[in-house]
Amino acid sequence: MIFATGNEGKMKEIRTIMADFCREIYSMKEAGIEINVEENGQTYEENALIKARAVAVHTQDLVLADDSGLEIDWLNGEPGVYSARYMGEDTSYRVKNANLISRLEGVPEEKRTARFVCAIAAVLPGGRELTVRAAIEGRIGYEEKGDNGFGYDPIFFVPEIGKTTAELGEAEKNRISHRGKALGLMKEELGKL
Ligand code: IMP
Repeated sequence: MIFATGNEGKMKEIRTIMADFCREIYSMKEAGIEINVEENGQTYEENALIKARAVAVHTQDLVLADDSGLEIDWLNGEPGVYSARYMGEDTSYRVKNANLISRLEGVPEEKRTARFVCAIAAVLPGGRELTVRAAIEGRIGYEEKGDNGFGYDPIFFVPEIGKTTAELGEAEKNRISHRGKALGLMKEELGKL
């Protein structure tokens, strides 16, 4: 199986979660596929499919790809599919997180609802395609908390746990996260074939 990402952090998560389904999971780089894909879809599913299809052209193996983002209800779902590009790809997450917190200034706790969403697409060797989607619900905090994870994790507070996703250990985040749940769903779907 090839997972269409250049992100080593994601590859680690994916290898752990998919280990009981597939032992040989390669990143694009490991598979010797070096392409730049423009993620110009309108939805997470479209973007995941764009990436998976672009890689599938170069291989006979099963190809998976994901696309994810943070949706903040008060901001009408922003940054959404533009999460990685929000305020510019090269802007630090310290700055992006501070900006989102400032846009929620004065917004009460119950209206700070948000979710991380992840779609995963698969292109099978015969050309058949599958997509799955999962989310984790939370609230935007008032300041950054925690040093684990990446991106928007320090401002994403999970009320049931009383911590941000940046305060969770790797295994705990994998168990409840959008990506962890979506990978679990994809594993189930592939297992049915
Ligand atoms: P992509 O799925 O790699 O195209 O980018 C999704 C973007 O959404 C990331 O660059 C982060 O900004 C954000 N994001 C997605 N998942 C997470 C997460 O688990 N923690 C924090 N930020 C995330």
